[in-house]
Amino acid sequence: MALSNGTEKKTGLTILIVGAGIGGLTAAIALRKQGHHIQIFEQSRFATETGAALHLAPNANGILRRLGLFAEEFGANPIHKFTEYTAGGQLLHTLSFKEDNKRWQHPWYLAHRVELHNALKKAVSSPTPDGKPAIEIKTSSRVERVDTYNATITFSDGTQIRGDLVVGADGVHSISRASLPNCEHIKPFPSGKSAFRFLIPKQQALDDPETAALVLNTGEQSMWFDVNRRIVMYPTSNNRMLNFVLIHPDGESASETIGSDTWDQSANLEKMLKIFSSFSSAILRLLSKVEPQSVRVWKLLDMDALPRFSDNRLVLIGDAAHPFLPHQGQGAAVAIEDAAALAVVLPLETAQSEIADRLELYNEIRYTRATTIQSFSRLVGKDLKPGDKKPSMWEFQNYNFGHDEWDNSTQKLREWTWKRNPSAYWRMPIAFGPMPGPRQTHFGTARNNQRSTFTTASIKFKTSRTILETLFPPMRSGWRFSVLDTVAYATFSLTTLNKLDWLGGSGYNHIGLYIHGVEYTQEEGSVVKGVYLPVLFESLTDPIISGREELGMPKVYSSIDVYRRNTSYRARAGWEGAFWGEFLLKDLEEVLPPSPAKEHLWEEPLLTYKYLPATGPKNKGKAAEEYPVIYDVSMENQFKGTILKTYKAEKASFALDPLDWEQLPTLHHVISRLAEIPVYDIVDAKVVEGEGVPDLAAARPIV
Ligand SMILES: Cc1cc2nc3c(=O)[nH]c(=O)nc-3n(C[C@H](O)[C@H](O)[C@H](O)COP(=O)(O)OP(=O)(O)OC[C@H]3O[C@@H](n4cnc5c(N)ncnc54)[C@H](O)[C@@H]3O)c2cc1C
Ligand SMILES: *[C@@H]1O[C@H](CO)[C@@H](O)[C@H](O)[C@H]1NC(C)=O
Ligand SMILES: *[C@@H]1O[C@H](CO)[C@@H](O)[C@H](O)[C@H]1NC(C)=O
Ligand SMILES: *[C@@H]1O[C@H](CO)[C@@H](O)[C@H](O)[C@H]1NC(C)=O
Repeated sequence: MALSNGTEKKTGLTILIVGAGIGGLTAAIALRKQGHHIQIFEQSRFATETGAALHLAPNANGILRRLGLFAEEFGANPIHKFTEYTAGGQLLHTLSFKEDNKRWQHPWYLAHRVELHNALKKAVSSPTPDGKPAIEIKTSSRVERVDTYNATITFSDGTQIRGDLVVGADGVHSISRASLPNCEHIKPFPSGKSAFRFLIPKQQALDDPETAALVLNTGEQSMWFDVNRRIVMYPTSNNRMLNFVLIHPDGESASETIGSDTWDQSANLEKMLKIFSSFSSAILRLLSKVEPQSVRVWKLLDMDALPRFSDNRLVLIGDAAHPFLPHQGQGAAVAIEDAAALAVVLPLETAQSEIADRLELYNEIRYTRATTIQSFSRLVGKDLKPGDKKPSMWEFQNYNFGHDEWDNSTQKLREWTWKRNPSAYWRMPIAFGPMPGPRQTHFGTARNNQRSTFTTASIKFKTSRTILETLFPPMRSGWRFSVLDTVAYATFSLTTLNKLDWLGGSGYNHIGLYIHGVEYTQEEGSVVKGVYLPVLFESLTDPIISGREELGMPKVYSSIDVYRRNTSYRARAGWEGAFWGEFLLKDLEEVLPPSPAKEHLWEEPLLTYKYLPATGPKNKGKAAEEYPVIYDVSMENQFKGTILKTYKAEKASFALDPLDWEQLPTLHHVISRLAEIPVYDIVDAKVVEGEGVPDLAAARPIV
C-alpha cells in the first residue's frame, strides 16, 4: 500500500508514450493498471516486427505475469539446457538447469518476438476486466521533438499534444533522448559486431540425418564459438522453431547494412555462409536451411551511459535509455523492468507537482541496475584472446534473475515517501514504516486531543518524606525534596481516558503515584521543581510502549477496572487475575463551580526519569539512554483542557497488597515498595471530569 494523505484527486495522469515496442507497450499496460490515461504514438505501421525470438528471463517474465501476460499462452517454451561448442562442434561444456530453474519463482522462457509483441498489443488494445478502457496506438505517428518542461510532443507535421508526462520508449535510435540535458552528443555507435537473425522450423533440421543430432533436445540453447564470431541457437514457439543469432565482425556484412543501422535488412544467405565457413559442416548445413529472404542483419549498437534517464516530465525506458548488446538476452527484460518501475512510482494519487521528483526516483531505482546489466552484456560478448577466462552469461544470473522490479520499486517508493516526510515518527517495528501514536498520525502530523475526555479520581495524602525519597532514581544524584520536613505529600491519581483519536475513539485507564514538592538539580546548578512520578500503571500496551520510548515515562502494565456510581468511585488494579490495589472514593458530591483546570492539570511540571537498557551481553547493566525528563503543560502552546465537573469525596481510602513473587512476578518489587508508604492523613479526594487531554508532546530531557 502506498501511503496517501487522501488530499490528491484520484483522476489519473495523461501519459504520452513515444514508441510501441516491448518497453512502450509494457509501460502502457502497467500505467493503465495504476489508473492513468495513456496515449501511444508509434512511427511505424508495425509491418516490420522481425521474426526472431528472445529470452524471457525470470526477472522479466515475473513482471509480465503480474500484468496478466502468460507467455506459455502465446507459444513460449521453457529453456532446459545450455550447451557450448567450438566452431568445429567439439563440446566445451553443457549445463542442465531443469533443477536450477526451480530457484526462480517465474519460469525462464524462450518467446517469439512477434508473438510477445502481439500479445502486448492485444492487451493494450483491449479493455481490462476491471473496466479500464482500451488504449489507442496511433501508428504512422513519428514524434520529432519532446518538451520536457511542458510534457509536449511535436509530430513531423508540426502538430503538438500535451500530457502530464512523456515516456520515451522509442528504442535505440530514440529522439526523446536528445531532450535530456547534456545528452545531445550521446549517440549509439557500432560495437564492431553485427548479427544475422532468422528462424528455421525445427522439423526441417530433424528430418535431415546430418543436422538432426544438433537439435535433439527440447528447450536447449546451443552456442558455437569461433575467435571473433559465434552462433546462438534456441527453440521457440513451443519448440517448433529454431531461433538463430549469428554474431560476426560487422565489416564482413557491411554491404548488406549500408545506409542504415537498422537490423531488419534482408541479408545475403551466401555471404552469411561464407562469414561462418569456419564452422562445422553440420552447422553450415543447418544454416543453409533458412529461407534466404527471411535473413536479417542487425548492426549491434552500443552507447555510452546517459548521465540520467529522466528530466522534468520526460522519462526514458528501454533501449532509448540504455541500448543493449544482445549477449545476455536481457535487453527486452530490462525494458520490461523499466516499465514496471515507472508504473510503481506513479500511483494513481500522484500529484502534478510531484511528477518530476517521481521520475527522478525512477531514475534512482533503474540507473545502476540497467547500466550494470548493460555492462555485463558487453563483457559476455567480448572476443576472447588466448588464455582469457571466458565470462559466461550464467555468472550474472543471480544479479539479473534474482530481482523483482515490482517489489523492489514498491519498497523504494515507500522509502522515498517516508524520507519526504521528516515529521514521520519512527518507532519499532521499523520494517513497516513510521508509526502512528498518541502524538502523531501515520504522516507525523500532530493529533487533536481537544475532544478527548478524562475522568480522574485522586487521593492526596500526607506521608513520610524519608520513605518517598527511596523512590527517587537510585544511584543518580540531583533528586531531593524542596522542603526537608519528615512529612511530605503524594497523590494516587486514577484516570480513565476516552474518545482518543489515536485509539480509534476508544480509551484506557492509568494509575500513577505523584510525589509533590520534588526538585532536581542539574550539574551546572540550576534547579527544576515539580511533581515526581516514579511509576505509572496503564491498562493498554500501546500507550505503554509509546510513553516509555517516546516520553521516557516509567510505565508498566496493570489491569485497571473502574466502577463508577452516582456517589462513589472504586477501582481495582491487578495483573493476570492477581489484584494488588483497591482505591475507593465515597459520598461524592458535586462542587459548583468545578475546580479550575489549572488545579487539575499539574500546574507544577512533571518530573520523571528515562532509562532504556542497551542490548547485548557486553552491555549488561548499561543504559542505551538515560536522563531526567520534564513535562510542563504550559509548554503545550495549543492545548486547552476544560474541567466540566468536580466531585468531592467525603471518604477515600486505598489498599495495596504486594501478594508474592508467584502472583506478581513482574510487579511484586514495585507494589511491595508502594505498600510500604504510610498514609498519615488523606488531605484531598475528588473525581474530576473534563475534556481535552494533553498528549505530553512537550516532554523533554532535562539537560
Ligand atoms: C539480435 C537481438 C537479440 C535480442 N535478444 C534478446 C533477448 O533474448 N532477450 C531480451 O530481453 N532482449 C533481447 N534483445 C533486445 C531487445 O529486443 C531490446 O532491448 C528491446 O526490444 C528494447 O525495447 P524498446 O521498447 O526499448 O525498444 P524497441 O522494441 O526498439 O521499440 C521502440 C519503438 O519505438 C518506435 N519509435 C522509434 N522512434 C520513434 C519516434 N520518433 N516516434 C514514434 N515511434 C518511434 C519504433 O518504431 C519501435 O516500435 C535482442 C535484440 C536483438 C537485436
Ligand atoms: C510551455 O507552454 C507554455 C504555454 O503553453 C509556453 O508559454 C511555454 O513557452 C512552453 N515552454 C516551453 C519550454 O516550451
Ligand atoms: C532493489 O534493488 C537494488 C538493485 O537494483 C538493490 O540494491 C536493493 O537492495 C533493492 N532494494 C530492495 C528494497 O529490495
Ligand atoms: C444519579 O444521579 C442522577 C442525576 O445526576 C439522578 O437523576 C439519579 O436519580 C441518581 N441515581 C441514584 C440511584 O441516585
